[in-house]
Amino acid sequence: MNHPIPSFANWSPSDLKSEILLGDCAEVLQRLPNESVDLIVTSPPYADQRKSTYGGIHPDKYVEWMLPRTAQMFRVLKDGGSFVLNIKEKAMDGQRHTYVLELILALKKQGWLWTEEYVWHKRNCYPGKWPNRFRDAWERCLHFTKSRKFKMNQQSVMVPMGDWAQTRLKSLGKNDVLRHDSQVGNAFAKNIANWQGRDMAYPTNVLHLATECGNKGHSAAFPLSLPQWFIKLFTDPGDVVLDPFVGSGTTVEAASGLGRSVIGIDVLDEYVQMCRQKLIPVQGVLLEKAAKYNVDQVSQKICRR
Ligand SMILES: C[S@@+](CC[C@H](N)C(=O)[O-])C[C@H]1O[C@@H](n2cnc3c(N)ncnc32)[C@H](O)[C@@H]1O
Repeated sequence: MNHPIPSFANWSPSDLKSEILLGDCAEVLQRLPNESVDLIVTSPPYADQRKSTYGGIHPDKYVEWMLPRTAQMFRVLKDGGSFVLNIKEKAMDGQRHTYVLELILALKKQGWLWTEEYVWHKRNCYPGKWPNRFRDAWERCLHFTKSRKFKMNQQSVMVPMGDWAQTRLKSLGKNDVLRHDSQVGNAFAKNIANWQGRDMAYPTNVLHLATECGNKGHSAAFPLSLPQWFIKLFTDPGDVVLDPFVGSGTTVEAASGLGRSVIGIDVLDEYVQMCRQKLIPVQGVLLEKAAKYNVDQVSQKICRR
């Protein structure tokens, strides 16, 4: 019989900790207490990718494979928590497979609210072409919650007003002072004139981030700024972040660097070892890093092209 991880039950915000656990997250997650995690941010194996390393799941079986794992995630997530799922469907036989869309519908049936979809635009993606499409330069970051009311620190990811202060906001038309939420497609919302003279604005739901594959020791790592941005947005210092498909430990580095406790799980021992090695230096400079990351550099870098 599996028992809860003893050290985990006593975690408190003033006592930052990290646990890197080996195993299939379907089983390992059963050891975590109910409603004990504030944010899940993860990039699971994509269907049929990387068969030679951690095994591929056939796209037709992907939803069936994922649901027992997301059921555990639902159980361990707090009511006001968030689940950010970085995923992208592949093209098969000249068409996009629909497994991500099917997964979204299945997650809604499981009780998740599909609250938002963020787009990770891979800003350093080089051009390319196939007979029926161009190079894929974006991935989904699906945002699920358990309830309509959830923790969201919007101020923590504000971006400089940038060019808007010099151009669009300088000479406003009649409609700009009348516009309402439903009509605007920018970050300002409501009356655009309200934003004149301000230095910072809210970002959009498109994150412009370069991929970082070198020196990571993992062929499918996401950039450090990706989990950093979501951790700042959906958690407070001292909260608990979980990555059930942790790979090279990017989420571990981001969360502990921002002063959050973190649990990482991977089915391959080599990645668990890699994460544990990363953790020691990260924890050693925790306060210094937290101070550095809390400056708004992270969000500014992400939201500017
Ligand atoms: C896309 S990678 C994650 C990469 C990670 N975001 C990073 O930045 O390094 C997916 C990871 O999930 C792990 N994995 C695959 N199946 C798993 C399972 N059932 N339980 C836990 N981990 C699993 C793989 O070993 C792989 O490291």
